[in-house]
Amino acid sequence: MRKCHSLLPVLLGFAVLRSFVGCVDDIEEKERYSSSTLGLLKLLKVEEKFADSLINKADQLGEKFESLRMYLSSVGYELHRSLNEKVQYVSNPINAFSLLRRTHEDLPKWHAYFKEAMGEGDLNILDDLVEKVPNDVDMLSAMHGIQRIEKIYDLKIDDLAQGVLHGVQYNIQLTYRDLIAMGNSMYQQSDYQTAAKWYRVACKRELENADQLLIEILGDPSEHLHRQYIKSLFKYGSTISEPTKSIEEAFIMVQASQEEMDNIMSDLRDPHSDVEVEKELYQVKRRSSNFELGCRGLYRQKTNLVCRYKSTANTFLRLAPLKLEEISLDPFIAMYHEVLYDSEIHELKGQSMNMVNGYASERNGTEIRDTVARYDWWSNTSLVRERINQRIIDMTEFNFSKDEKLQITNYGVGTYFQPHFDYSSDGFETPNITTLGDRLASILFYASEVPQGGATVFPEINVTVFPQKGSMLYWFNLHDDGRPDIRSKHSVCPVINGDRWTLTKWVPMFPQMFSFPCKSKLTQL
Ligand SMILES: *[C@@H]1O[C@H](CO)[C@@H](O)[C@H](O)[C@H]1NC(C)=O
Ligand SMILES: *[C@@H]1O[C@H](CO)[C@@H](O)[C@H](O)[C@H]1NC(C)=O
Ligand SMILES: *[C@@H]1O[C@H](CO)[C@@H](O)[C@H](O)[C@H]1NC(C)=O
Ligand SMILES: *[C@@H]1O[C@H](CO)[C@@H](O)[C@H](O)[C@H]1NC(C)=O
Ligand SMILES: *[C@@H]1O[C@H](CO)[C@@H](O)[C@H](O)[C@H]1NC(C)=O
Repeated sequence: MRKCHSLLPVLLGFAVLRSFVGCVDDIEEKERYSSSTLGLLKLLKVEEKFADSLINKADQLGEKFESLRMYLSSVGYELHRSLNEKVQYVSNPINAFSLLRRTHEDLPKWHAYFKEAMGEGDLNILDDLVEKVPNDVDMLSAMHGIQRIEKIYDLKIDDLAQGVLHGVQYNIQLTYRDLIAMGNSMYQQSDYQTAAKWYRVACKRELENADQLLIEILGDPSEHLHRQYIKSLFKYGSTISEPTKSIEEAFIMVQASQEEMDNIMSDLRDPHSDVEVEKELYQVKRRSSNFELGCRGLYRQKTNLVCRYKSTANTFLRLAPLKLEEISLDPFIAMYHEVLYDSEIHELKGQSMNMVNGYASERNGTEIRDTVARYDWWSNTSLVRERINQRIIDMTEFNFSKDEKLQITNYGVGTYFQPHFDYSSDGFETPNITTLGDRLASILFYASEVPQGGATVFPEINVTVFPQKGSMLYWFNLHDDGRPDIRSKHSVCPVINGDRWTLTKWVPMFPQMFSFPCKSKLTQL
């Protein structure tokens, strides 16, 4: 494993991720927990093992253990959750973010504390666990994920902090330390407006647990909070009024005495001025992109579409007619319902435990699609895979072998796919393109319910499809004559709350030449 951690400056935004190109191997080797719920479950296990080993030694630890107990209860730590409860826990971005932050920041501090208190030897298992905490890149991805959820769904940070996600109130909230971590990250990315929003909500909270020992172990996050909040407000304020003044003002703020700071802070705390500040901070808004409107489910409903049973195509469908829902007629997009069974989903997840980490793909040094989901090629021969392939062949009459691979994807904290095309001129390496041709069609099975977010959006034609467990969506990427159809541009919105699993199959063009002289045969069925 090459070492490149020294290259890691503090969290600095996407620029940092790019500068990592030189040690990609290292990133890929390291867990990227934030990229999938599957990864987050692994991280939860690390934290549980860590806490459990200490709980087992509670007697020996005596009163030192009391701080840990208090900490665990303040972060909502619960022993012995069932797998289902764990999945639900990490499927919520607030829990997932908190988990990443506390294992990234706090766990190593607990480790150091107990090592020192207990001496070497007795707590060796903790040494292995502390090696497994999320690295800076992972932490940054999670922060970008939260930021993305906030921007794409136009959430108010006050709501997000309180556990209100796109209108749904959850019984959890971001902790004081989480809020400050978000503020710091935004500040370091020079987004002072958003930084001030996070700091503002943090300032309204108290440290949940002001236990002196706990502060000694974990540090006092309040120390710089007020200064940072005031600096962000000044910097943001001066960028909207007098851009050149910002550096100067900030400099003055850095110099300001504690007394001056306290005075400004008590002014800011006054409810009247807080309302003003809030207004200022939320006044300037970006215009939403069409993609974002799609993610929020705001496109106008299409009319003249039907849902029907399809049974005419072949023997298979005559025996078992399937529910087909038209999504769009031109270009043709449709969804089959109830075509992937729970037992199959169970097996495909079981076979995916060792999926590789997702990452942002690059072509020629620029990020072309930012996906940090985790994916794997389902390449092991298995009866279930053959059955699913055969079902696609029966449903669509495409020509491919039932032994072919399928791609499995699982999403994490705010992970998504930017709008992109599946055909090769978008810069992707399409396997066997010279022998098999470009990707004529894309087939996507939804292998989980996603309570909030995670839609598939076609922004060129204003179509949004929300995942429905067991359904299969398919569309064409090419025109009849093989030219790319730009209307096939699509993207995956970040999941707000949920564990999103999909199964993808791309259908290459050449083998369809005889069975599909032109695709109108299919679309006119
Ligand atoms: C797939 O095959 C590889 C190699 O034989 C094996 O290590 C792996 O466990 C298999 N995966 C599943 C899910 O069976
Ligand atoms: C990538 O860069 C190379 C040379 O720098 C160029 O030949 C190639 O066309 C580029 N590919 C894309 C997809 O832009
Ligand atoms: C696709 O390419 C791989 C090697 O790159 C080869 O092993 C495989 O046989 C090819 N498949 C087809 C259908 O041509
Ligand atoms: C899609 O919706 C946007 C507004 O959200 C509208 O401006 C645009 O014309 C629509 N495009 C299509 C193809 O309907
Ligand atoms: C199906 O695809 C294979 C190549 O993958 C090709 O040899 C065969 O002719 C195709 N069958 C039909 C009916 O088009």
